[in-house]
Amino acid sequence: MQPEASERLEELVSRALEELENVKTIEALDSLKTRLLGRKGLLAEAFACLRTLPEDRRGRFGKQLNEAKACMLERYEAKKRQLETGQNANPSSSVLDVSLPGPLPQAGKAHPISQVQDEILAIFLQMGYSVAKGPELEDDYHNFEALNIPKHHPARDMQDTFFVQNAEGFLLRTHTSPVQIRVMERLGVPVQVVAPGRVYRRDFDPTHSPMFHQVEGLMIDKDVSFAGLIGTLDFFSKRFFGPDAAVRFRPSYFPFTEPSAEVDVRCIFCKGEGCRVCKNSGYLEVLGCGMVHPAVLEACRVDPDEWQGFAFGLGVERLAMLKLGIDDIRLFYENHPSFLPQF
Ligand code: PHE
Repeated sequence: MQPEASERLEELVSRALEELENVKTIEALDSLKTRLLGRKGLLAEAFACLRTLPEDRRGRFGKQLNEAKACMLERYEAKKRQLETGQNANPSSSVLDVSLPGPLPQAGKAHPISQVQDEILAIFLQMGYSVAKGPELEDDYHNFEALNIPKHHPARDMQDTFFVQNAEGFLLRTHTSPVQIRVMERLGVPVQVVAPGRVYRRDFDPTHSPMFHQVEGLMIDKDVSFAGLIGTLDFFSKRFFGPDAAVRFRPSYFPFTEPSAEVDVRCIFCKGEGCRVCKNSGYLEVLGCGMVHPAVLEACRVDPDEWQGFAFGLGVERLAMLKLGIDDIRLFYENHPSFLPQF
């Protein structure tokens, strides 16, 4: 009896170990455990036959049974750990853990240019401005003529302007200033608006793009002065860059303003010492401005003896580059997935 029983036990153990080795899922492992080691399992049956043995043989067989049980339990535990951590020896049988959190979908958000543009508008809205819009496909009259830019002016040159082929007199607006004209035509005066939008010029290098964004400002009333313009832009730059922002006003020329000025912000890359981005000047031009030229008011049927005002045009990309510390404008348009989420 004993040799037969112990042989059967050996066979049971070797089959059990093989099955334990090949099991693929935790569920299958647990039902195998019940079948082998459960209260009515195969090993329990073997234990039951212990009582049928003559007393002198029970000791050895009992020891053998206990060893078999320990061996199977050990293999069971090892297999369980393996399946739980997914480190299965056989990669094709890895375990799917449906309770693991999945990869989060990347949430979209506003482009850095839109964010900066919104920030600019918010500051002017606080000062009582409202938002106006105009078309990107403009006509010669609104982009040039009404803005006191005569026919021979170099700004109309093919070098700078994208003209629309087969549509005489149409072009992609080269600035947002035509919105000044459209707003005065539509709303009359007094008026206080900011007009954001895309503009187009034939230009392409680290600080110029053929398409970029401007925010135009226009304020017309009965007693608007150049001091008001300086105060407005000073307030804006302190709000936008912080109280320590270094800005300077430089006399300049635009056909549609008189007097005119350009406003520069101290280069944040070199702190004013001179670098590639600011072309060694220490400053970056961020806007043009001035008192609206009487000829522009007249073109909009506004009496220059009664009304005056100021206008300004901000470069959104310039402001964004300075604020966000970006030294190449082209990064804004490449929309690289490692660039955009930084803002
Ligand atoms: N339109 C000018 C430009 O694009 C900027 C400007 C706007 C200057 C309004 C004066 C007044 O350069």
